[in-house]
Amino acid sequence: MSEFKQTRIAPAEGKLAVLLPGMGAVATTFIAGVEATRRGLGKPIGSLTQMAHIRLGKRSEKRWAMIKDLVPLATLDDLVFGGWDPIPDDAYTAASKAKVLSQDLLSPMSEYLSTIRPMPAVFDHSWVKRLDGKNVKTGKKRHLVEQIEQDIRAFLDKNKCTRAVMVWCASTEAYCEAGPQHQSLEAFEKALDKNDPAIAPSQIYAYAAIRMGIPYLNGAPNLSADFPAMIELAERKGTPIGGKDFKTGQTLMKTIIAPGLKARMLGMEGWFSTNILGNRDGEVLDDPANFKTKEVSKLSVLEQILEPSRYPDLYRDLQHKVSIHYYKPRGDNKEGWDNIDIVGWMGYPMQIKVNFLCRDSILAAPIVLDLALFGDLAKRAGMKGIQEWLSFYFKSPQHAASVYPEHDLFAQKVRLENNLRYLIGEELINYLGSDYTNE
Ligand SMILES: NC(=O)c1ccc[n+]([C@@H]2O[C@H](COP(=O)([O-])OP(=O)(O)OC[C@H]3O[C@@H](n4cnc5c(N)ncnc54)[C@H](O)[C@@H]3O)[C@@H](O)[C@H]2O)c1
Repeated sequence: MSEFKQTRIAPAEGKLAVLLPGMGAVATTFIAGVEATRRGLGKPIGSLTQMAHIRLGKRSEKRWAMIKDLVPLATLDDLVFGGWDPIPDDAYTAASKAKVLSQDLLSPMSEYLSTIRPMPAVFDHSWVKRLDGKNVKTGKKRHLVEQIEQDIRAFLDKNKCTRAVMVWCASTEAYCEAGPQHQSLEAFEKALDKNDPAIAPSQIYAYAAIRMGIPYLNGAPNLSADFPAMIELAERKGTPIGGKDFKTGQTLMKTIIAPGLKARMLGMEGWFSTNILGNRDGEVLDDPANFKTKEVSKLSVLEQILEPSRYPDLYRDLQHKVSIHYYKPRGDNKEGWDNIDIVGWMGYPMQIKVNFLCRDSILAAPIVLDLALFGDLAKRAGMKGIQEWLSFYFKSPQHAASVYPEHDLFAQKVRLENNLRYLIGEELINYLGSDYTNE
């Protein structure tokens, strides 16, 4: 028997509202995919909450369980979707325009998807220069917060939801660093009252959600809930938060390959990544201010994994380059090229080439699902503030100020699974194996 105590987790009773600022390619691929799964038209591939098993106890016990049977998660049938977007397209129209899922899959669900219409967004063109939309709210920032809160209350009421979770699936905002306005809750609220231009739209959604106790997960790389004021608010309100930037294509590969090469103590002189994509996300990222946000998120990964200062002989001269090119014909089907210059025994150079023909939103949709379900679980389990155990899903995992972020996908997976074991009072697995040796 385990010596660990089970955490009290409130049951997942009633409907869960999944609130999505941004109802573009990722959000509609997620919504349509969940509905298709509910109707038996497809499988939720890529989702740990729906497909993964984890081991329990010692290897000799041969105990495994599906995550969804192990912890009390909301079921797919209990999910209700809502969102905001400056473009007024309903989910069926937006999914059809995004062209991620085929019309064969979408058409039978058109009636349902057409009922999901975005609420007017908190949108400011200066943060996303390549977009314009008429479906927007007006007013000063404090008033915009109140409008979002009002939207949420009305949505929960109309759809008879017991709880909600918010996942930011909107465009990447222009690069900005945390300023004095972001350093404490008091400073942030003063800035809000003064309609300070340093407060981005995503921060308005995040503030409203976190204040209402609604878990907030950020799927884009912009500054949204990852600064002291928002962390303070999350702690005070008992709200789980996490981010940022869904880990999907090239960075997913980086966090799989780099830890493996480092584990073998192979050196690296350079990693050159470039990719082309032609969806609306690619168009937004074609603006240098928005690309800068993405670039910072993508670049930090290798440095953290390889630790050049600890291993100067292996990684001192590492050159890491990342570029994204908007190339319309490719649509959502991004193509990425990676050239990795590695170094082996006696300094002999070798190369690895990766050509990933991926589908951006197909990789992102299951992440939205898992974050929504795990965010809700965390809330019901009384977990508040930064949810580092969800680092698995993010390019730039949010972490406590005192520690560095964990990027290694396999370390992240162990952390996530151990967190689930911990919640239900199961033994944590440390892979020491001494018990088997002694047996
Ligand atoms: N697909 C992936 O693999 C992936 C990976 C990591 C991060 N992301 C991020 O996820 C986000 C969504 O990607 P996508 O491909 O769906 O993009 P998209 O352009 O198709 O959808 C984004 C939507 O957000 C809307 N929007 C912009 N500002 C808004 C605001 N203030 N409030 C509400 N809605 C707003 C846009 O009108 C658009 O419909 C982007 O920020 C992207 O960088 C995607």
